[in-house]
Amino acid sequence: MQDCHKSQKIAICMVGLPARGKTYISRKLHRYLNWLGYNCKVFNIGNYRREICGTECDKTFFDSKNEQATKARNECAQMALNDLISYLNGDGEIAIFDGTNTTKQRRNMVQCSLSQQCQNVQTLWIESICDDAEVIQNNIRLTKLNNPDYVSMNPEDATKDFLGRIRMYEEVYQKIELDENLSFIKLINIGEDIQIHKVKGYLLSKIISYLMNLHIYPRPIYLTRHGGSTFNQENRVGGDCDLSQQGIQYSEQLGKFLLDEFPTQEQRNQIHCLTSTMKRATHTADIVCNILKISYLQLKTLDEINVGICDGLTYTQIAIQFPEDFAQRKVNKLTYRYPRGESYLDLISRIEPIIYEIERSREPVLVIGHQAILRCLYAYFHRNEISEVPQLEIPIHAIIKLTPAAYYCEEIRIKIDPETGERKQIEEDLQIERVNLLTKKKSYILL
Ligand code: F6P
Repeated sequence: MQDCHKSQKIAICMVGLPARGKTYISRKLHRYLNWLGYNCKVFNIGNYRREICGTECDKTFFDSKNEQATKARNECAQMALNDLISYLNGDGEIAIFDGTNTTKQRRNMVQCSLSQQCQNVQTLWIESICDDAEVIQNNIRLTKLNNPDYVSMNPEDATKDFLGRIRMYEEVYQKIELDENLSFIKLINIGEDIQIHKVKGYLLSKIISYLMNLHIYPRPIYLTRHGGSTFNQENRVGGDCDLSQQGIQYSEQLGKFLLDEFPTQEQRNQIHCLTSTMKRATHTADIVCNILKISYLQLKTLDEINVGICDGLTYTQIAIQFPEDFAQRKVNKLTYRYPRGESYLDLISRIEPIIYEIERSREPVLVIGHQAILRCLYAYFHRNEISEVPQLEIPIHAIIKLTPAAYYCEEIRIKIDPETGERKQIEEDLQIERVNLLTKKKSYILL
């Protein structure tokens, strides 16, 4: 038995047949909790199975009557669980156990191991139930056919085998029942219905409301800084100044760009435009939304980082007037809090409701924001490490188009010349992030 930290730990255990979005939910939660600053890790039983038993396992490997394979699968689950427990007994704060866990016996084993080997753990079970054949087919097509189990098979054979695998699990599947005495949430047909049982505590309630906002409908998210301001020209921070002439021109060009992206008024009416309460941002939104003939929502939550006593100063002036602060910020820009102002960490918790708002939306979202705020939002969608947030590149007079998909986020960056309106795709063309399930390394595929 391993020792356990005194602090409260959380284990999140997935339940459900294959292709019910368990890995999608695990990854989203992982991303969200990491972004909030928690040490969080996913333990995917399938990855252990691929590493130990190889990728040549067809549907017969998942037959409960196949004793040898069942033993091997249980061993893989046990290994993943042991690693998860070690993680929680060390620095880990939240661990996600991503697997089918379809039988009462398996869940009981997991629950007992967790409570015996890690005293301070709270366990939340998430069961994903889906009987919509179209969603299941789509999920197989988008996620399973690219996974290492099927890379060398043609899509039809792979789909057939995968459906066979699902049938094997259906034979033994027992949905979570009240007599198991578990704390759980059941997500039925991607949020169509939700059942919650015995979920207590601040963080678990937060996780539940996050899950309630998730959906899988693809829609673009556009992030742009407001048009250049007079303070931008002078390299001053803070303040509530208006747009420069160039900033006005950019806003007009941005409106034209979006007209091309959404050619009909019906499409434009769908855009969910969010901005801050600051003059430079609302002025940009006024111009853009006037061109698009749509309205926008002003949110104080989206206001730029509060620079406290440095308001209105240039970076050079800050270095001269507050040399200690200037040096401290250089050392750790993430945690440094401007006196009477905010840090990047403060911003992340301030804008958390915006993440819910964007996740919830099934329509295109346009955020007209500010540099620091957009760094925080971008990091959530692009899975950056929290330490990277204050350094992320969010150029002025450019629009970032993100399209989150099941396991990756497409990104296109377009620089718009405020004067000529010339549009130039910047960085690599189009990047798709994929995680190689075998090496667990991220790779970028350029299209
Ligand atoms: O310079 C524009 C601006 O939005 C300022 O208002 C804000 O203080 C700054 O960017 C944030 O960037 P950094 O954290 O790199 O100073």
